[in-house]
Amino acid sequence: MDRNTISVGIIGFGTVGSGTAKILLNNKQLLKDRTGIDFNLTKIADLDIARDRGIKIPDGILTTDASEVLNDPKIDIVIELMGGIHPAKDFILKAIRNKKHVITANKALIATAGNEILSDADANEVCVGFEASVAGGIPIIKVLREGLIANNILAIYGIINGTSNYILTKMTNEKVDFSLALKEAQRLGYAEADPTFDIEGIDTAHKLTILSSLSYGIPFLYNDVYKEGITKITAMDIEFAIELGYKIKLLAILKAANSEIEMRVHPTMVPNDYLISKVDGVFNAIYVEGDAVGSTLYYGRGAGDMPTGSAVVADIVDIGERIIRSQKSRVRSQKKAAEFKIRKMEDVDSKYYFRFSALDKPGVLSKISGILGSYNISIASVIQKGRRIGGAVPLVVLTHLAKEKDVTQAIREIDQLPVVSDKTLFIRVEGEEA
Ligand code: HSE
Repeated sequence: MDRNTISVGIIGFGTVGSGTAKILLNNKQLLKDRTGIDFNLTKIADLDIARDRGIKIPDGILTTDASEVLNDPKIDIVIELMGGIHPAKDFILKAIRNKKHVITANKALIATAGNEILSDADANEVCVGFEASVAGGIPIIKVLREGLIANNILAIYGIINGTSNYILTKMTNEKVDFSLALKEAQRLGYAEADPTFDIEGIDTAHKLTILSSLSYGIPFLYNDVYKEGITKITAMDIEFAIELGYKIKLLAILKAANSEIEMRVHPTMVPNDYLISKVDGVFNAIYVEGDAVGSTLYYGRGAGDMPTGSAVVADIVDIGERIIRSQKSRVRSQKKAAEFKIRKMEDVDSKYYFRFSALDKPGVLSKISGILGSYNISIASVIQKGRRIGGAVPLVVLTHLAKEKDVTQAIREIDQLPVVSDKTLFIRVEGEEA
C-alpha cells in the first residue's frame, strides 16, 4: 500500500510552536484534501508543558524531553522552534544525523551556521526548510527558490523587521522620539525586553543573509553584511525627510551589478512614490526586481503565531510531499568564493542626507560645501530652519550620488570645524537622480 502519512515533532512550544500546532490540528482535513497526506503531530517538546496555549493537545503528545522527538523512529520531520543558537543547533544536527528532515524558523541560526547545517543535510540526504525564518507569513523563500527561478535577481529592498518598522512609523505619525516609540513597542509585546537585535539591524541582517544566499547561490555570509540600526534617527530627521518627500525605513538592500553583490542594512530615506514607503506598523514587505519579471512586491505579517505557523506548515507540506514521492531536494549549487565579490561598504555609491549642527554665521555653508566639493560630493539641495544667533542650527543637505568612502572622510573633516558643534548625522537616500 502506498504511504500517505507524515509524522512531525516540534521542539519549542512558544508563540510559533503554538501557531504551528494549531494549524496542523485545525486544518488537518484541509491539508489532507489538498495533498492526500495525513500530517500527524506526534510530539511537542518544551521545558514548560503546563502553561495553557489556548489549544487542546491530544494526550501523549507533550513531553519535556527533546530527545523523544529527535530519537522517535516514527517522526519524519523535526521542527525546531525554540530559537537561539544553543541548544537549537545541536538538536538540528542530531536530527539530521538521525536522517530526519528539519524545519526551522531560526534566522539567527541559519544566517550564522546555515553553511554547516545545509552541508550536513546534503550528506545525510535530508531537507532543511526555513521559509518561516524570513518575513514570517510572506512566502518569500518560495518566491526566490521557485517563482522567480528563471530570473537574475537585480535588486531586493526589504522591510523585514516589524519592530523597527513599528518604531519608525510611530515616530513618523506621532512625532515622538525613538525612546518613547521603543517603550510602546515593548509594552505591546513587539520588541523583546532586550531589543538589540531588532533596533541595531542584526535581525534584519540575519534575514538579508538568507535572502542573499537564495538570490545569488552564495554561502550564508552574515559577517559580510553591513549593518546599522535605527537608534540615531531623531524625530527631527523624520520631519525633514517628510518635508523632502521621503519616509525613513530600516531597509535590507541587496544589489547585484558588475559581478559584485551589495549586502547592507541601514536606515534609508525612501521616496514617497515607492510602494514600500507606505508599508507601516509591524508589517513587512519585500520588493524584488528580476531581469525577466521586472518589479515585484510581497507584503504581509512578518511575525506572530499564525502567520509564522503558516510558513512552517507550508514547509511541512513541501517536505512531506517529497518524502511521499521519494523525491530528493533540489541540487543546491553554491558559488565558490572566487566566483563572486561582495562590494565593500566604502565602495558603495548612494545619495545622502546630511544633518549638520552648524553655527548660524556667515561663511559656514561655504566652509562645509567646500569640504564636500573637495571629496567630489555634489549638493542637490539645502535646508536651514530656525535662527539661533550664536547658537547651532540644523543645516540639512541632500547630495547627488557619492561614494561612501568619500562621505565618511568628508564628514570626519567637517565634524572637526570649530563652527560645527555636534556629530553630523547622515542617512542614505534611495530613488532616481533628479
Ligand atoms: N523580531 C522580529 C521582527 C520578529 O520584529 O520582525 C520576526 O522575525
